[in-house]
Amino acid sequence: MTPPRSKPVEALTEEEAAEELARLAAEIAHHRDLYYRQDAPAISDAEYDALEARNAAIEARFPALVRADSPSQRVGAAPSEAFAKVRHGEPMLSLDNVFDAGEFAEFCARIRRFLRLPADEPLRFVGEPKIDGLSINLLYEDGVFIRGATRGDGIEGEDVTANLRTIADLPLRLKGTFPSRIEVRGEVFMEKADFLAFRDAQAAAAAEREERRRRGEKLGEAVVIPANPRNAAAGSVRQLDPRVTAARPLRLIAYAMGAASEAPAETHWDYLARLKAWGFRTNPLSRLLDSEADAAAFQAAMAEKRASLGYDIDGVVYKLDRLDWQARLGFVGRAPRWAVAWKFPAEQATTKLLAIEIQVGRTGALTPRAVMEPVNVGGVVVRHATLHNEDEIARKDVRVGDTVIIQRAGDVIPQVVGVVKEKRPKDAKPFVFPTTCPACGSHAIRDEGEAVRRCTGGLICPAQRVERLKHFASRRAMDIEGLGEENVELLFREGLVKAPADIFRLHRHAATMRGWEGWGERRIAKLLDAIEARRRVPFDRFIFALGIRRIGEANAKLLARHYHTLDEWRAKMIAARIVGSEAREELGSIQGIGPAIAEELVEFFAEPRNLAALDDLAREVTPEPIAPEAAIESPFAGKTVVFTGTLATMTRDEAEAMAERLGAKVTKSVSKKTDFVIVGADAGSKAAKAAELGVRTLTEQEWREMAAIA
Ligand code: IVH
Repeated sequence: MTPPRSKPVEALTEEEAAEELARLAAEIAHHRDLYYRQDAPAISDAEYDALEARNAAIEARFPALVRADSPSQRVGAAPSEAFAKVRHGEPMLSLDNVFDAGEFAEFCARIRRFLRLPADEPLRFVGEPKIDGLSINLLYEDGVFIRGATRGDGIEGEDVTANLRTIADLPLRLKGTFPSRIEVRGEVFMEKADFLAFRDAQAAAAAEREERRRRGEKLGEAVVIPANPRNAAAGSVRQLDPRVTAARPLRLIAYAMGAASEAPAETHWDYLARLKAWGFRTNPLSRLLDSEADAAAFQAAMAEKRASLGYDIDGVVYKLDRLDWQARLGFVGRAPRWAVAWKFPAEQATTKLLAIEIQVGRTGALTPRAVMEPVNVGGVVVRHATLHNEDEIARKDVRVGDTVIIQRAGDVIPQVVGVVKEKRPKDAKPFVFPTTCPACGSHAIRDEGEAVRRCTGGLICPAQRVERLKHFASRRAMDIEGLGEENVELLFREGLVKAPADIFRLHRHAATMRGWEGWGERRIAKLLDAIEARRRVPFDRFIFALGIRRIGEANAKLLARHYHTLDEWRAKMIAARIVGSEAREELGSIQGIGPAIAEELVEFFAEPRNLAALDDLAREVTPEPIAPEAAIESPFAGKTVVFTGTLATMTRDEAEAMAERLGAKVTKSVSKKTDFVIVGADAGSKAAKAAELGVRTLTEQEWREMAAIA
């Protein structure tokens, strides 16, 4: 049982408060678990309520200590089904990060390689402070603000138009001349001073509420004390009542372009000027930088300025100025090749390591996690950090009881970077990494050359199963609204959902769920509706949702585009088991699918339990073919093309990326199925093979003309 906490909240020191909030977060989570999932509460309802009340009371007194994982942060966030989904005209991407001049130089080198620019060709960038807020997409038609959406998964966001209208920085009507239809992207954020005032006001309201609770009075709505400016901005934009949003001190800075009916500028710098002329706020600190050296100088200057700015920034975004070059460079995965976020150095702190936990992931990877005394690292209270893997623990000689140095770089999970050896307790023992799975007891093995030890239990391991289910239902996969990690765990533990297909048979268990605390008729109906809505999903999401190792969203898309239907994909993956078979060659010929990925796929389909689960799922869900990449109106749409030899006017990378953008499938070897072979200088056997098979060949000039490259 919980040790009684006699110390009144008013008497706690800040340090004691931080410790207790950490303990309370864990303890409340534990009791929720016992109560909701195991049906075995260890304390009375009154005792449980007292824990929550104490948590709230401490937070009200120390608002700066509110933890991102605090039980109080669960409530208040608007249910996401309250907002309609909208598809962005063009995807909203994220950015790759670099952390030093070397990595930035590598980013520049990649641009030069791709565009085949000489090494001394100067690259002009626009540097913009990277504000940590919430990115949004604003649609204007004939200069009138029509709709605004959150980023969501990058493809679809939530329609928060009514709330965004309340932000003073957002022009409801554009000034001057503008394209008839244009998407403008920007960041909604809260300034530091506004955040502190807002947080304190929320804390005061929370304290008052606690007082009412103490007196046994009626409580009204829960009050959320935001943990940081980002959460405050995001929570404010996602309010159900726009009047609440209107009362929040939100700002908006515009910085990027989405879909547009006509090009509004030739350079990003000019585009920013147009944004300003239209009536947007742009960042006055943004600069046009003539070279990499200028960028490095700007980075240093911004790092210096950071603390004195009115808002939080975590780095600088560098965007290649020429929009024609941006267009040629395009994207890889979810990030553009033409922009990068150069993050400031990570923030560090030291604290005590209390334990090393082993977590089992979706693919069986055993990941060690440090459990530490809570510590504030750059404004965020941290209690857990990753220890990466077995070798890392040994290399750094991390022991339980040690004082460890942890750091948080950008938005990544905090990590343990080292140990303060002088502070090591005498009895600290080296950590022994388990060789069996803590969840199912199966052997955990490490393949040659692999850093990770994996549970061999596969689908018999409950940890792997539940992680796969979480992944399956998650937003980027099947995107089943209301089926977040907690609910998946609950349904799994209650035995209602053991495999993906079970989710779609959950309606048979409505009666059981009705018996659960907090599971009213409405909630159940909502969940079941959300599940029904996902019986048809795009094929690429379906593939990604299976959680096959190495098959991320980008690879899932490649596979979905190539194979079109589940039946075809399934048959070909089984046939591909035989090395040298036509199906295996076909798989290997897909641009972007390397041998390691092919191996993973073949292995997945070779496992009867996986096939059974897949077939069971296919009885419940219908994957729908996805549209080819782009511009159907091109002579290359739907065609298979091969490039060979050296091109004079563009790099192979650029040519292949362009062909894909024109709807072509780019492969590496020539076969009967090839439609075009583009032959550069010094082409070898592929050109000969094309001639032999009668495949049409194009010179570089012909290719440029057909592809309409100016
Ligand atoms: S441009 C392809 N510009 O950073 C262009 N993003 O990691 C992608 N952000 O989701 C976005 N300041 O929330 C861009 N000046 C800026 C930015 C910025 C902050 C955020 C934004 C985005 C994230 C990408």
